[in-house]
Amino acid sequence: MTATDFVGPLRLGVNIDHVATVRNARGGAVPDPVRAAVLAQSAGADGITAHLREDRRHIRDADIEALVEALHIPLNFEMAATAEMQTIALRHRPHAVCIVPERREERTTEGGLEVAGDQNRLADYIAPLADAGCRVSLFIAADAVQVEAAASVGAAVVELHTGAYCDFHDEGQFAERDAELARIAAAATKAHALGLEVHAGHGLSYDSVGPIAALPEVVELNIGHFLMGEAIFRGLPDAMAEMRRLMDASRVKAVA
Ligand code: PXP
Repeated sequence: MTATDFVGPLRLGVNIDHVATVRNARGGAVPDPVRAAVLAQSAGADGITAHLREDRRHIRDADIEALVEALHIPLNFEMAATAEMQTIALRHRPHAVCIVPERREERTTEGGLEVAGDQNRLADYIAPLADAGCRVSLFIAADAVQVEAAASVGAAVVELHTGAYCDFHDEGQFAERDAELARIAAAATKAHALGLEVHAGHGLSYDSVGPIAALPEVVELNIGHFLMGEAIFRGLPDAMAEMRRLMDASRVKAVA
């Protein structure tokens, strides 16, 4: 006989950066990323993620201000560990601050944060943000050394980088994909055992989300680029509903 076992709820955070990328391509006011965030909120998003980059290539300071005003779901404010961003975060006190590495020449956030080796600076950097009530998340590669370092600097959350897993999946390199998935699973288990909340994201699509959503320690996925692309064809609420359906389906495990 087969029963089903629900692994636990999984939150969907919607990243709206790419709406701002399209807006900025013409330098005007449309499409408005805040409108996308409000639509995602009313369509059942559990949170909104926005990355204020040092070069302001997509999200701008005024967008963050408007998001803080408009949202009643948690805002996950993504940023580099710079003094300027710390000041902005302390001014707005978002629900969560996700610290990511940032290089001007990259197209997107390419690697994980180098926490090991920068532990003293990051511990000092995180402390005032945590004191201000923000849940501090570190976006890291699925690597035991980085997970241990994240726990030691006082982060509440780690977000595991799924970019390499998704790239291997999309390129049909399934042995490499499965090895990366095993690394993500091991990192999730370790992070959870160290008392960290575990999130995951980057590059996830309908095709690749299932095995990540099935990891029991993962409680939040942050997804942007694929959802916004899909929204062009079916609208954002419908694109999100399909992602949610796939996520939820993966949380229900068949047990003997
Ligand atoms: N999580 C983090 C920390 C990110 O930097 C990004 C990309 O901005 C995402 C999730 C979402 O990635 P994608 O847009 O590829 O879904």
